[in-house]
Amino acid sequence: MENCTTEGSIEPGGARFGNFINYYQFNPAEERICHLPQDLFSDLFPSGGHLYALDVGCNAGNLTVALHRRYSTDQVKLTILGADIDQLLIKRAQESLKNNNACGQNINSDTIDSCDTVNTDKNIKNERLSKSNENTEKLTINPVSDIKDLSKNGDIEFVHADIMSDEGINKVKDFLESHGVQKFDMIFLFSVSMWIHLHHGDEGLEKLLEICSKLSRYTLLEPQPWKCYQTATRRMRRNGLPEFPHWTQIKLRGAELYPATIELARKYKMEVVKHFGETKWNRQLVLLKSNQE
Ligand SMILES: C[S@@+](CC[C@H](N)C(=O)[O-])C[C@H]1O[C@@H](n2cnc3c(N)ncnc32)[C@H](O)[C@@H]1O
Repeated sequence: MENCTTEGSIEPGGARFGNFINYYQFNPAEERICHLPQDLFSDLFPSGGHLYALDVGCNAGNLTVALHRRYSTDQVKLTILGADIDQLLIKRAQESLKNNNACGQNINSDTIDSCDTVNTDKNIKNERLSKSNENTEKLTINPVSDIKDLSKNGDIEFVHADIMSDEGINKVKDFLESHGVQKFDMIFLFSVSMWIHLHHGDEGLEKLLEICSKLSRYTLLEPQPWKCYQTATRRMRRNGLPEFPHWTQIKLRGAELYPATIELARKYKMEVVKHFGETKWNRQLVLLKSNQE
């Protein structure tokens, strides 16, 4: 699959940051959130009001929009910032909002496996489809008739930002400042921790949790299991691409990965307040509360 950051070149087996260009074709956003309770926000914030969320690694924005549609109600006005390291995906997300679409792409009958990968032939096929879409500047988007103009009223914003960089963090802080708030109420980490771990090592995973603990009251974490790391690494090798920079040094691995991640969260004063069990992707879904001032 194409690494979206290298616009214009087909790079089978790429997407080294999990920046799959057609992710939501295989992984419909609405299905992803059906494991979450409808009262997620109203339970945590019974007095409602205006709440702010950050969606780290928002890809083309489909899940961000689905979360907003589900959780922004009469009682809770939710404003979400979606941030992604991939500029092209952010551009797509912004354009979809501008065009009043739900960022959706046509869903076909292919399936993605639980490790964010589809078989290479399908990857290449879809990558080519995407590329031809890009060339003709057409996006296949499902119009959703009842969607509000989210971009105009500021309910959702998308920003190109690497959450692990100072520059990325500053963009996120600028958003908070522009809204006159100090912290997010929720940070979503859906299927992004593995990519950060592979690129920044154990220290990077720790830094991510520290960032969440400092910047948000709650963090909803959907970490990839170890077998996904192995799949991602194999995919790189199979396609003759360089190994992930921290692959060999990663110590938080195997069966230890999940408990060690929770332990790291505790180090940064986060406690597990809810465990939603495993999603149909065999991924844990856990809600962490930050006790950091
Ligand atoms: C597998 S996708 C998951 C997308 C979305 N969170 C979901 O679960 O539907 C991982 C996303 O994380 C993004 N990503 C990886 N590293 C990142 C970083 N350091 N900062 C921001 N986004 C990042 C990738 O570009 C990619 O879009």
